[in-house]
Order: sequence, then C-alpha cells, then structure tokens
Amino acid sequence: MNSEYETLVKAAEEAMENAYAPYSGFCVGAALKAKNGRVYTGCNIENAAFTPTNCAERTAFFKAISEGERLFEAIAIVGGKNGEVQNLCPPCGVCRQVMREFCKADFKIVLKDSCGVRVFTLGELLPLSFGPDQLG
Ligand code: THU
Repeated sequence: MNSEYETLVKAAEEAMENAYAPYSGFCVGAALKAKNGRVYTGCNIENAAFTPTNCAERTAFFKAISEGERLFEAIAIVGGKNGEVQNLCPPCGVCRQVMREFCKADFKIVLKDSCGVRVFTLGELLPLSFGPDQLG
C-alpha cells in the first residue's frame, strides 16, 4: 500500500464499521486529515426519509469544521456493499463541493479498491469548480 496514507486508510476502514446503512447496505468510511495532523473520521448515516442521508465524507468534514478546524491535507474514503471494499468509492458530487469550500485544488483524495490505494487531487475530481473565490 502507498505507505504515506496507510494510517489514514485504516482509520477510514474503522470508521466504516459504524456506518448506518440499513436501506442501501452500502457502507462508507472516511478519515479527514487536518494540516496539524489531527484526523476526523465519519461514516454514512442513512434515514428512512432517504434525503436526510449524510455521506461519510460530509460527516467527517462537519465534525472537523464544527470543532474549529479549517486547514486540510487529505481525506481517505473506503466503501462497499455490506462493508466489503472491492471497488473505489469516489466521493459524490455534493461531497466534492463541500470539499471545495474548505480545500484547494491540491487537496488529496485517497481511494482504495481490492488492488490497492490510488491518490487523486480535488482539482482532478472537480475541475472548473465554483467556490468561495467566485463570490469575491
Ligand atoms: N455514500 C457516501 O457515504 N459517500 C459517497 O461519496 C457516496 C455515497 C453513501 C450514501 C448512502 O448511504 C450510500 O452510500 C449509498 O449511496
């Protein structure tokens, strides 16, 4: 595994164990690393009314932001049906936009599948994005 992110991916895998996904059965875990080294984890939290469902990535971001964190380095994301990680679990569009609010284009998004770990940047996954700078 890409050893630089081994610990962060492990934290995401542990967070996935807390996923509340009784409707889709698709469990996701995320681990968000702040620039000061602190790690905030999150899981997806589904809801019987469906739309209130919160993704693992946003759970991690909202935990961090609500605790005063503002500077972020990387997020690891793992997911799969019944918690079995086989394919990459790329962040949904809403989560990418939340990342865009707080992170620059070089923010690292670390994904894992059964073959190993791949590292992307937010700039790659959300090109030509709309962010706080547009509002002046
Ligand atoms: N999910 C996440 O937690 N993160 C993503 O980036 C993609 C989707 C969750 C939401 C829902 O609970 C389940 O996966 C199926 O969409």
